[in-house]
Amino acid sequence: IAYTALSLGVPDRVRFRYRLNGNDTTWVDAGTRREAFFTNLGPGSYRFQVIATNEDGVWNEAGAAFDFTILPSFIQTRWFLAVWVATLGGMVWLVYLARVRQVAGRLRARYQAALVERTRIAQELHDTLLQGFTGITLQLRAIQRVLAQRPQEGAEALKSVLTSADTALRDARHMIWDMRAVELEERDLADALEHAARAMTGSATELVFTVTGDRQGLPLALETTALRIGREAVLNAVKHAAPRRVKVDLEYGARLLTLRVSDDGTGIAQDAMEAAARGEHWGLAGMRDRAQRAGGTLKISSEPGRGTVVSVSLPSGDTPVALTRHDG
Ligand SMILES: Nc1ncnc2c1ncn2[C@@H]1O[C@H](COP(=O)(O)OP(=O)(O)O)[C@@H](O)[C@H]1O
Ligand SMILES: [Mg+2]
Repeated sequence: IAYTALSLGVPDRVRFRYRLNGNDTTWVDAGTRREAFFTNLGPGSYRFQVIATNEDGVWNEAGAAFDFTILPSFIQTRWFLAVWVATLGGMVWLVYLARVRQVAGRLRARYQAALVERTRIAQELHDTLLQGFTGITLQLRAIQRVLAQRPQEGAEALKSVLTSADTALRDARHMIWDMRAVELEERDLADALEHAARAMTGSATELVFTVTGDRQGLPLALETTALRIGREAVLNAVKHAAPRRVKVDLEYGARLLTLRVSDDGTGIAQDAMEAAARGEHWGLAGMRDRAQRAGGTLKISSEPGRGTVVSVSLPSGDTPVALTRHDG
């Protein structure tokens, strides 16, 4: 800001003081300089005041004044501040959202894993404890019928019940350890399956058991799957179909192990099929699930009054046989 004073005498002896209201609080002595410099003035209204002396050093206190306003530049406006705060807030919000989504995803994955595990445990329980106890109940009922007339035969049959109970308990214990079937410890699949099927069908139902192909040891997981499915299929036939005859065919193929359980009983009612598909029964759904987990397929064909055929094919071709049997 440039200023001056009218002096008729000696201009070099005129001295100035100035003050910028809104910036300075005291007068700035400018000497004989006729310019004032201000840097870094923020936006706002200012009043520039200047006073001067005459040649004799007497101050003219009235002086002169100049009002001016510095408009805020864009980045100093409230708008800019608002945009800036909004942007910052938005970024914080986005980070928060991303974090929430991440945590939710992790929770969902954990929930899914728990669900899969729960299904597996439910199936294991069904196929060990429930299958076992249902079989035992069936055997006990048969014994109850013969006990009065033929006590000797009944006592003999009780031995088999005790064995079944023992097996069921050990099976459940193994289920907690892993998923292997106890019966496969001392027997191969064909023997174990025939043994279990005979215990379930008892004397009232005829059991026809055939083994074809190259009978051999297979991976324990595969034998367990086949045994559990076969056992459930035979148990279902005995429990639900009132058959005269149950046929079990086990075929050791080059690449596939095929198991077929057929009965000549009532057939599966349509609503039972649907209920099983809805997951209300663990048996049928579990059979299918087990077959799929072993990479195989399961087919159930049933006609009312004409019995049921459950066939399952499990790949056995290129899997190694080297798994050791479990003892204990
Ligand atoms: N071989 C069969 N013959 C007639 N009905 C069957 C047979 N297998 C299954 N079912 C019917 O299908 C239903 C579902 O079977 P499943 O899933 O094994 O459950 P659960 O045996 O525990 O009842 C049975 O309740 C029964 O009504
Ligand atoms: Mg069942």
